Amino acid sequence: MSLWSKHAIFEKNSIILLIGVLIVISIGGLVEIVPLFYLKSTIEKVSGVRPYTPLELAGRNIYVREGCYNCHSQMIRTMRDEVERYGHYSLAAESMYDRPFQWGSKRTGPDLARIGGKYSDEWHRDHLNSPKSVVPGTVMPSYPWLARTELDYKHIADDLKVQAVLGVPYSPEMIANATADLRAQAAADHPDADALLKRYPNAQARDYDGNPNAISETDALIAYLQMLGTQVDFKLYDNKANIR
Ligand code: HEC
Repeated sequence: MSLWSKHAIFEKNSIILLIGVLIVISIGGLVEIVPLFYLKSTIEKVSGVRPYTPLELAGRNIYVREGCYNCHSQMIRTMRDEVERYGHYSLAAESMYDRPFQWGSKRTGPDLARIGGKYSDEWHRDHLNSPKSVVPGTVMPSYPWLARTELDYKHIADDLKVQAVLGVPYSPEMIANATADLRAQAAADHPDADALLKRYPNAQARDYDGNPNAISETDALIAYLQMLGTQVDFKLYDNKANIR
């Protein structure tokens, strides 16, 4: 019996054929995917990208909880129309601490990868509370409960710990100070703001929801939105003198 006639085994038994197909596909997959874990160039080092502050992480959790990713992507493609509309295309490094990633697969609303700094906190407050109050024709739903719900952050240090297990470089010091850092970022002129900035360079600390008496879910979500896309200073990269 020649080697080729053994092929009949696969042709006569669909389960064996299926197992064979799976083996062949996995080899193909491994050859394509495994090198990415070892190549240094998979995620190029980009200065400015840092782990999320505790408040931003809490805001990100609300973004995931409310399903914002169902209508918004966070990945600007390299196409000209996207770059002209949203800004510099997204770099892999910009989502390296995003677990799970928020690239999204549907754009009912615009991409949010560089929404940070585009609008004021007041605009975001009004928009989340009632999108139609600022964009009359919008189909975005209202999220009025975010402003009146106090942020539940008792587990924020555990959230950081889980992210650290997944590979985000949260130090023991960052984890130990998670609650203090969260409070410092949600208030204007908080005495702990310097410590926060040391741990998280360029973090923006202020009273995002306009209510100094409470830390609401709006505080966390707007802190997250206002940070998106602001970590990398693209002026450094667009200026050719800085490219070595
Ligand atoms: C049903 C789809 C839908 C969902 C869900 C949704 N949005 Fe939107 N969003 C839109 C649409 C459409 C627009 C464009 C019109 C507007 O500004 O309201 C928009 C606009 C925005 C903008 C302004 C973007 C810009 O560049 O002008 C922000 C910020 C935003 N959404 C945040 C959120 C957040 C945060 C959530 C989750 C709490 C969310 N959206 C959930 C549809 C959605």
